[in-house]
Amino acid sequence: MTVPTKDNLETPKIMLDAQTIKNRVQEMGKQISKDYAGEEIIAICILKGSVVFFSDIIREINLPLKCEFLATSSYGDDKTTSGEVKLTMDTKFPLEDKHVVVFEDIVDSGLTLSYIVRLLQARKPKSIKLCSLLFKPESLRTELKVDYVGFEIGNEFVVGFGLDYAGFYRNVPYVGVLSA
Ligand code: IMP
Ligand code: MG
Repeated sequence: MTVPTKDNLETPKIMLDAQTIKNRVQEMGKQISKDYAGEEIIAICILKGSVVFFSDIIREINLPLKCEFLATSSYGDDKTTSGEVKLTMDTKFPLEDKHVVVFEDIVDSGLTLSYIVRLLQARKPKSIKLCSLLFKPESLRTELKVDYVGFEIGNEFVVGFGLDYAGFYRNVPYVGVLSA
């Protein structure tokens, strides 16, 4: 597939529309609020892909909550993982003895989240749970337990709702697929 530029962007075909995502994000937020009732959580947003999901779900969580941001890269402009994960931005405050919930846009091979879990575990949080809007079970290449999953999808490459192809499409308000 050709690398997108401002002149050849297509309209992705809708896979999950905005209302469907909104309803599911509300349910997930309620579940997290219930599971951690009476506790404080540190919500970690994995940049950049999770930024849209994160900003929606934290407003559905009724708990004392602090936000942290962490960025990794492994993709470049390619559509398959390079397998090598790099930390490009780290969290700011100590996580020791805190309940940490990591928010991801999509779990594909699982290599990114495995790397992040290993990194965060070394900081001795009280607990770590993983929450991903999308999950591709057929692509998983690691032993990874994702505690909260919005939608399981097939092996196709998706864009929108924060997910990009070569940097574009993050602002598309639904999850969609590109042709070919
Ligand atoms: P993993 O390490 O293979 O699980 O990939 C995780 C990261 O790859 C995600 O955080 C996304 O940034 C990116 N990614 C994986 N699948 C897709 C996709 O279908 N569309 C857009 N980005 C994806
Ligand atoms: Mg991502």
